[in-house]
Amino acid sequence: MNRRRFLAVGSGCVLGALGAASGAAAGKLPPVDIGPANKFAQDAISEEFIKDDFFVIRYQGRLFAASTTCPHMGSTLQRDSQDTTRIKCGAHGSVFDAEGVVMVGPASSGLIRLGITVNGEGHAIVNRNQEFPQDKWTDKGCYVEAKQARQ
Ligand code: FES
Repeated sequence: MNRRRFLAVGSGCVLGALGAASGAAAGKLPPVDIGPANKFAQDAISEEFIKDDFFVIRYQGRLFAASTTCPHMGSTLQRDSQDTTRIKCGAHGSVFDAEGVVMVGPASSGLIRLGITVNGEGHAIVNRNQEFPQDKWTDKGCYVEAKQARQ
């Protein structure tokens, strides 16, 4: 668990304990509008939303969001500065390819993907409260077609 997620969960617990939570569920992270999906015009790993704790990845025409939290022990991942088609963990050296599959351990599973949909305005919206482990990567809500959003 990285710092941002820890703080979100922690603050939600405090609010819940104080009975101060309003309509929104405690600890929930707000959705992030990443703009029209077609702005990600080529297959690549984008760090534009790294402050929100996810990469935006376009891979073989599909667009998805992948958590920056390493599936091994929770350290924060970064795009590999030596090879921008890869993601690397500085803690123990795991490396992931452009799809999020482990190339080098000790991580034993791929990146955690986050929920993503396209809204009525054609913008891709990332739901950071919805997580998809590697065996769920083909599930509905785990990716959008890059051409799905409006021009
Ligand atoms: S926490 Fe990333 S490889 Fe161990």
